[in-house]
Amino acid sequence: MVATTVSTGEGWSSRSAFILAAVGAAVGLGNIWRFPTLAGESGGGAFVIVYIACVFLLGLPLVLSEIFIGRVGQTDAVGSIRRVAAQSQASPGWSVFGAIGALAAFLIVAFYSVVAGWVLYYVSVMGMDLVQAIVEGDPLRGALAGESREQIQQRLGDMFANPLLLIVVHLLFMGLTFYIVARGVSSGIEKAATYLMPLFFFLLVGLVIYGAIEGDIGDAVAFLFTPDWSKLTPQVMNSALGQALFSLSLGVAGLITYGSYIKEGSGLGPTAGLIAIADTTVALLAGLMIFPIVFAVGLDPAAGPTLVFQTLPFAFQTMPGGALFGFLFFLLILVAAVTSSISLLEVPTAYGIGERGWTRPKSAAIFGGGAFLIGIACLLGYNVWADVRPLGFWSLFAETDILDTVDGFTGKVMLPVGALLTSIFIGWKADENLLRTTTGLSPWAFGLWRFLLAWLCPLAVAIILVTGLFPSIL
Ligand code: PHE
Repeated sequence: MVATTVSTGEGWSSRSAFILAAVGAAVGLGNIWRFPTLAGESGGGAFVIVYIACVFLLGLPLVLSEIFIGRVGQTDAVGSIRRVAAQSQASPGWSVFGAIGALAAFLIVAFYSVVAGWVLYYVSVMGMDLVQAIVEGDPLRGALAGESREQIQQRLGDMFANPLLLIVVHLLFMGLTFYIVARGVSSGIEKAATYLMPLFFFLLVGLVIYGAIEGDIGDAVAFLFTPDWSKLTPQVMNSALGQALFSLSLGVAGLITYGSYIKEGSGLGPTAGLIAIADTTVALLAGLMIFPIVFAVGLDPAAGPTLVFQTLPFAFQTMPGGALFGFLFFLLILVAAVTSSISLLEVPTAYGIGERGWTRPKSAAIFGGGAFLIGIACLLGYNVWADVRPLGFWSLFAETDILDTVDGFTGKVMLPVGALLTSIFIGWKADENLLRTTTGLSPWAFGLWRFLLAWLCPLAVAIILVTGLFPSIL
């Protein structure tokens, strides 16, 4: 017997609204903070090329699979998978990967909001600096005038040492995410994407042009696109694969949930392609925005996670217009983070509505509130709970603080498991006719899609999973 599922009944007002919201979900901290960090640490070109291959050979087929499930299911991820399974004579037990995805999305939004809170703090620091520059009659001066490099870098450490500040910015960001999700699909999520995504692209293009004029674009292009194959270690391939999943928001059932709000029409192939192309373009543009600035002032591209918070503010100090463009830079990251965090909170929220019969505001409040509390534990890991190692018994996470444990466990375990089950389900179990008619793919594209899903995706994702969990076998 197939369990009945309440259809959430909400929908996008148009196909382009869906695309905008889905691109907004994909484009986030992953593109502007994580991608340049990894590319910088992994030596540039070789990582970038493997990453692009992963996006199109593994990511794109999975993007289409998730949208397909949502489009057919028309309800939350668990209910949608159950419906596809019922129409394919497959076991309803497959819906477990919808539940894993919803749990992963819930955990990710907890620490995502903490990191976005840091960005919010930097927006306010740079914003006040800009106001001061304007008041002093020098709006085009460099950022944080008069501060030494140590003072600029120390700001991050001071922020981490201040739990109250971290809680306030986390609360503000989570509150905003909750507010948008509680308003619903068309009047909340869609509206936010319609205003924020054009703002995002405008800022991005402006900052890339600024970097090209004031920075060292030649070195940046050489760094990002000249592969040094000797740098291509198994770890680099592993992190490129993982980054492709994270950046396209795969494995958390986010695109199943967003796909369920598509009310009519087929032809999902071009839509999926557009999402993958837009997400990759933004990641590359983010690299072309950040590295010219880093190279212009002779800084280290391999600075790691602090690249954005310590390296760049110092770079903006030495550049003309740095006060203005530094502020716009952090605003850009904040905008990207909002459109992603709402997609994360939407997954468990839809689950509460579809599977538990809760109202939308109640469901968003329960999951948003729960994620807020988990986020507090994450941020206390930077100060009062600095010694806590939640999975310390597991050698992989023995040295990992609370936030990095939640990040690592979701990214290295839950996302690959979700992606693996999705590819097996669509590659082997789903009804072929249903797939053909819903996706509207041409015969050769359909054949290629199913081949990649049935063979390449499960193998490659299984490799990420195993090498991610047992790095010693490499
Ligand atoms: N894709 C988002 C980003 O790049 C992050 C994300 C991961 C969002 C997983 C949803 C699910 O920032």
